[in-house]
Amino acid sequence: MPDAETAAAAVARQIAETVAARPDAILGLATGGTMEPVYAHLVRAHCEGLSFAHVRTVNLDEYVGLPPDHPNSYHSYMARHFLDHVDIPREHSLIPRGDREPEAAAREYAALLERLGPVDLQLLGVGHNGHIAFNEPGTPVDAPTRAVRLSPETRRANLRFFAGGETVPAEAVTMGTAQIMSARSLLALAVGDAKARALATALDGVIGPDCPASYLRLHPACTIIADRAACSDL
Ligand code: GLP
Repeated sequence: MPDAETAAAAVARQIAETVAARPDAILGLATGGTMEPVYAHLVRAHCEGLSFAHVRTVNLDEYVGLPPDHPNSYHSYMARHFLDHVDIPREHSLIPRGDREPEAAAREYAALLERLGPVDLQLLGVGHNGHIAFNEPGTPVDAPTRAVRLSPETRRANLRFFAGGETVPAEAVTMGTAQIMSARSLLALAVGDAKARALATALDGVIGPDCPASYLRLHPACTIIADRAACSDL
């Protein structure tokens, strides 16, 4: 894609088409700067008539230590960018809890995902170091949904969202790679030259734990959309 905006629009179109074809689709949702324009497009699609009333959503991850109403929690992110602006009933959206004991929160989230059944379309961003959700380098392909420690690189990359001297939490609850890979289809988006190295490793490097995004190549129905800048190392 020529630029980030076109890439985000293409991702949003694919999600909107999934919902139009299957109004009760289970969507796996992602956070991060990359996804903000995707949600803006989906909110616009909703204003133009697309209903999410029967959709169910599951999110990839949440920071440990941030309650849902903390401005930097992924609960707040999702409310701000998407959930508050569309007609999804609140009880249809699952996001791990960051304000509980992390292992218990992960177990609870894994059980909710299990009960829900397979995700139809899982949206994914790619971390600067090749992480997906918060599955950092070193994660095997079959890792469960769990509490994790964040790498210094990931905490540094996400510091830009934390204003006023706040530190980025050191831990998170993340959907595991096993759960991500069990989705019926995957849709990944990478934009900007900061993602070029990760995307090149994911697509051309060895498939393995050094770059969890490389596991996308093992999925039978994965689409990766990227802008020209993110493709600059390919
Ligand atoms: C966070 C999220 C990931 C996301 C990544 C990239 O670490 N846990 O799911 O893909 O950030 O974020 P950004 O789009 O801001 O570069």
